[in-house]
Order: sequence, then structure tokens, then C-alpha cells
Amino acid sequence: METRSRLILLSHVLLIFLLCPLAYAHFEEVHTLIQAGHYTEATNKLEALAESTNDIAVQSWCYYQIGEIYYNYTHQYTRAIEAYDKILKLEKNGLAAEELFLAIIKKGDVHSRMGNYHEAIQIYDRLIKLAPASHFVHKTGLQKIRDINRALSDLREQQRIAIQYKGTPLAAIAQFQIAELYRNHSQLNQPEKAIEEYASLLEAHPDAIMAPEARWRIAHLRHTVLNQSALAMATYRKVTEDYPSSNFAADALFQMANIHRTTKKYSLAIPIFEKLKQRHPNFWNMHAVLYWTGVCYEQTLNYPKAIASFETFLHAYLPQLDPGYLGQISMHDKSVSEVKAEIRRKIEELAEQMAEVELGRLNKARADRDFSEALSIAQHLIATAPHTPQAEQAAEQLPTLQQLTAIENLREKLQDQNLVPIEVARARLQIGSIYERKPLQDHPKAIEAYQEVSKHHADLTHSAEALYRSGLIYAEQLSAPNEAIQAYKKVIETHPNTLQAMMANFQLGELYRKLHRYNEALQAYETTIGYPERDRYLAGGYKDSFADRAQFRIGRVHYDDRRYNEARFAFEEFIQNRTQSPRLAAAYVYLATICENQSENAQAAYYYKRAENLLPDNPIQMTMLIEEASALGSLQATDSDAVMRFLKENRKRLETAKTGSNQ
Ligand SMILES: *[C@@H]1O[C@H](CO)[C@@H](O)[C@H](O)[C@H]1NC(C)=O
Ligand SMILES: *[C@@H]1O[C@H](CO)[C@@H](O)[C@H](O)[C@H]1NC(C)=O
Ligand SMILES: *[C@@H]1O[C@H](CO)[C@@H](O)[C@H](O)[C@H]1NC(C)=O
Ligand SMILES: *[C@@H]1O[C@H](CO)[C@@H](O)[C@H](O)[C@H]1NC(C)=O
Ligand SMILES: *[C@@H]1O[C@H](CO)[C@@H](O)[C@H](O)[C@H]1NC(C)=O
Repeated sequence: METRSRLILLSHVLLIFLLCPLAYAHFEEVHTLIQAGHYTEATNKLEALAESTNDIAVQSWCYYQIGEIYYNYTHQYTRAIEAYDKILKLEKNGLAAEELFLAIIKKGDVHSRMGNYHEAIQIYDRLIKLAPASHFVHKTGLQKIRDINRALSDLREQQRIAIQYKGTPLAAIAQFQIAELYRNHSQLNQPEKAIEEYASLLEAHPDAIMAPEARWRIAHLRHTVLNQSALAMATYRKVTEDYPSSNFAADALFQMANIHRTTKKYSLAIPIFEKLKQRHPNFWNMHAVLYWTGVCYEQTLNYPKAIASFETFLHAYLPQLDPGYLGQISMHDKSVSEVKAEIRRKIEELAEQMAEVELGRLNKARADRDFSEALSIAQHLIATAPHTPQAEQAAEQLPTLQQLTAIENLREKLQDQNLVPIEVARARLQIGSIYERKPLQDHPKAIEAYQEVSKHHADLTHSAEALYRSGLIYAEQLSAPNEAIQAYKKVIETHPNTLQAMMANFQLGELYRKLHRYNEALQAYETTIGYPERDRYLAGGYKDSFADRAQFRIGRVHYDDRRYNEARFAFEEFIQNRTQSPRLAAAYVYLATICENQSENAQAAYYYKRAENLLPDNPIQMTMLIEEASALGSLQATDSDAVMRFLKENRKRLETAKTGSNQ
């Protein structure tokens, strides 16, 4: 029956286009206005068009559309009747019989929608009298009258049962039947009344077996008949929340996703489709879920997921599919093999463009600071399209994206109100240290994170660590020694009994030494040594520590300040006290240089010899020597061969000079 009236409508519209090509432009315009929900504008436009023409076919078409708008969307039924009446008035002007019949049917439908079944029956009766018995609308009219009468008597019967069995499950079923009678377009055709009935059923019998269906029906009427998609959406959601294990919950998710999809909100549809797949893996309409998920992914330019969805649909679902179900993917007019070819083509097309589109998506995610998304796109792109320039670009970004994602995850964690303070401090500290590392090396950002730690967690040792690390960044990366000194001093002041305070003292010594503030440097180094020593064991039995370094640098401060006696004393004591130091060779070279300055050539040669003996096959001593002594005037060597040559030459020179002076 409904198919038939659709057929009439279709031929009706086609007829208009044939008669009047201009009408097509109007049809498009009106259609767009209706889609956008601009119903008043649409009816005004149609009204004006109808008045501006003498073509009764066009007039009839306009009024028909107006009637539809009032009936379908704004639910102003009296106005709908007025519109259809205007068509009926065109009868005397020679309106085509088909159009007259259609308007009569529509007018009858509006009356039954209003609950005026008596009028509706009279109108259908008029149709029966007008249309020849051979015409199918004649049968339609008869059928409609029969349906209404049957429905009304059924309604009375169900109402009787509902009263007789009040409060029992039988009454619940009767009430459900009543709602169904109102719902059915061919029966009582009152969706609003049906909704009331379903709602009162839910209230009186919340635990009834058909409760999920009743709720779903309310949503579905709002969605498909009353065009109240916001209300429909909320009601579908309630189905999924209140009856999560029901089949109607699965269908409600499907409908919610479809509402988003048909209003082009693809990115909202996707998570709902995904949830449906996950929660209801046996959903009867899974083939449509796969297909529409593919469409939504394609629209949001996620080609890998679009391809995966279409492939699954193509290989797992389509071969099994009853062609009758192709309507679920809006392809009722195609054969299975046509659908197959179309989807194959689509997959090929997507695959061809994938690398380029993915790179675009990667860049967009990164620009939107959605780094975890960018990272997963990059990883997938590298894995699925290797050897493409796009994958290469993704690979280049990978290390950076990994760090940015790690930071993003930590920041997300920080949003959690229940996070214990110590974890907050750890997370903030970790953010700073990730910013410091390659390839990010974003020092200002690192400092920002460290400042957060010292600001919010002043009592924790993590604050000392944060201050200490900012000191290092100021000193070593940002060439800001004064800021560095401030940071170190704050560590020492606020957390004196920490490893960080010990190290801060050492770093202060370093800064002062480089700034030629020698006395302050000496004091800082002395303080460093005063802390309990924390050894680091090296290969060859050597032992390093901040104290060892500080001790050595005391010698260097004296040396730099040309206090050679003090320097000599410091280095001699260093050699005596720190027999496991990795800086012994360096100390010998300093001593040799000092002795040479003091014209003690034999002693100088002796120290060079000690260094020479120690160094071969001793990378630790060699490395330290280069680190500590490369600043010495004539030793500007950075490789071990050059160092050894320097030592030998100096020793030879000194020995010759010594022999010479002895003669
Ligand atoms: C249905 O109603 C909404 C407003 O709720 C409107 O935007 C939409 O265009 C309507 N749908 C149709 C097909 O007219
Ligand atoms: C009114 O609703 C019917 C049934 O849903 C539909 O076939 C028809 O196209 C709608 N009319 C308009 C003007 O949108
Ligand atoms: C609606 O009512 C008609 C006529 O009684 C019936 O043939 C049809 O199956 C009903 N449709 C639904 C969905 O109940
Ligand atoms: C070196 O050792 C001696 C004897 O144990 C000690 O008196 C002296 O303070 C030490 N010097 C340094 C700089 O550690
Ligand atoms: C020793 O060092 C001082 C100061 O750097 C310098 O003036 C002097 O020439 C040096 N003497 C020798 C013998 O190298």
C-alpha cells in the first residue's frame, strides 16, 4: 500500500518535470529549504510560485508540497488539509485524475492523523466513488476504510482488556497493542498518541517484557515519522542505557549513528558504530554497520579504517547477503555484483590516495596538538605504505611524536583530580625531562614544567631536582649563568640535605670558576666535598664522584688564578688521597706544567713520565685528561695519539734541558 502511494508520488513529480522544466529548479530549491528545516520559507516560496502561475499542474504540485510540509514536519494538520483542499478545487479546471486521487488520499490521511476517523472514512468513500473500480486507488480507498474500521474495533477490544486486567501483564500487552494501533500508518495513524500510550505503558509497567521495544518505538517514531531527531536521539540513548542487553539497545545505537551520519556529523557517528560493534557483535544488521562505518571513515578522511571496513564488508558480509538487505545500505536498486564492483572500485581509489591523505591527516592532528592520534597515524602509515615519500616524512617525525605523545599522556593524567600529590610531582618532573631530551630539546618548556614542580611541590625532593635541572639548562643551554646561580642557590637553601644540594654546590663551583669568581668557586667546591661521597664505579677499578671532581677543580681554580703553589699542593694531595681517581693522569699533567713553570724540569719530566705510564690502554684516564687538561696552554689535543705525542715531546725536551743545565 505504501509502496503504491510512493509510486504515485514519483510519477507525479516526474510528470511535473516533463511539463515544466522550470519547476525542477524550484523543486531543488524547496528541497534544500526543507532539508535545512526552513519550513516557513519553503511554504512561502511554494505559495508564491502557485500564485504566479496558471499552470494547474505546477499549482497542484506546490500545494501538494505545502501539504506534505505541514503534515510531515510542522504537524499543522489543519493547514495541511487547506493545502490539499486547494488541489481538490482545481478539479473543475481540469486537474489530472491521478493528482486529484492523490490529494484525496492525503487529505484522508491527515484526518485520520488528527483522529477524525469518521471524516477520513467519508473522504476515502468519495475516492471510491470517483475512481473507476478498475483503478487501483479504488481498492486503496476500500482497504483504507477496512483498515480503519478494523483498527477501531480492535482498539475498543484492547481498551476493554486493559481495564479488565488492570495492573497485570495482560493489561500491559493490551496497552502495547493500543500503542501499536496508533503507530501504524495504515491503522490509526497517530504517532503522537502512540508515543503517549508507549510512555504510559512504561510508567505503569516499567519491568514489562516489551519495555525496551516500547521505548525504542517512541524513539523510532520521533526519528522516522515526526522528524524530531534531537528528541529521538535522547530516547535512543535511554534505550541503550536502560536496556543495555536488549536487541533494541543494539538497534538504538545503529539509529543514533545513522542520525549523525545523515546529518553529516560523521565523526560523531563513528564512535557509536564502533561501540555497537564492540557491545553487540551479533547485531543482525552488522553488514550495514560495516558499510556505513566505512562511509563515515571515508568522509572523515581516515582511509585506512575506511578501507578496512569496506574490505570486511566486501569479503565477510556481502557474499552471504540476501539482496533484500541491500536497502540497509541504500543500494536496493543494485545487484550484489554491482555492489561488489562499486566497493572494489572505492577501495582501489582510497588505497591509491591513502599515503597522501594520511600524511595530511598526520599533519593536521599534529597542528591540532592531538599527538597520540598523529603518532598512531604515523606508525600506521610507515607500516602500510613503506618506501613512499609520505612514509619517510612520517618516519622522520616519529621520535618527536613519541615524546610529544608521552607528554600528552602525562598531561592527561594530571587532569585526574584524584591523583595523589606525589604522582602529580612525578608526572610534572617527567614532562620537564622529556622536553629536555632529544629530539625535542625544548628548554624553555622544560623550565616551565620544572617551575610547576617547584611551585606546587616545594616540600618534595622533586622540587630540588626540578630546580637543579633548570639550573643546568640555564647554565649549559641558555647561557644564563645568573639564572642558573639563582636556581642552584635555591636548591641549597630549600633542600640542603639532598643529593641535589650537593650537586648544586658543585655546579655553583663550576659557574664561579668560569666567571673567574675564584674564592666563591673554592668555597662551593669545598662544600661539595663536605657532603657524603657518592661513588660511581668505573672500569679499571676507578671511582668517580662529585667530590673527586670538586677536589680536582680546586686545584684548577688555583692554577687558573696563577696561585701555582696552592695549585701544586692541591694536586699533590689529590694524587695522595685519591688513588682510585680517574683524574690521576690529569693531575700529573697539571703538576708537570706547574713544575715546569717553576723551572723544576726534572720534577716536571717525572710527572709527565707518570702520566705516560698510566695512559696507554686506559680510556678512562685518557678521557678525563682530555676533559680536564685540554685547556692547558700547549695541550690542545683531543685525541689520544696527540696527547701521547705531547707528553713524550715535553718530557724529552725537559730531560734534554735538564741534562744541558747539569753540564
Ligand atoms: C527535521 O527537523 C530538523 C530540525 O529538528 C531539521 O533541521 C531537518 O532538516 C528536518 N528534516 C527534514 C528531512 O526536513
Ligand atoms: C513526507 O514524508 C514522506 C514519508 O516519510 C516522504 O515520502 C515525503 O517525501 C515527505 N515529504 C516531503 C515534502 O519531504
Ligand atoms: C499496519 O497495519 C496494516 C493493516 O492492518 C497491516 O497489514 C500491517 O502489517 C501493519 N504494519 C505494522 C508494521 O504493524
Ligand atoms: C687527604 O688525606 C689526609 C689524611 O687522611 C687528610 O688529612 C686530608 O684532609 C685529605 N685531604 C683532602 C683534600 O681530602
Ligand atoms: C710561569 O707563569 C707565569 C704566570 O703565568 C708567567 O708569567 C711565567 O712566564 C711562567 N714562567 C715560566 C718559566 O714558564
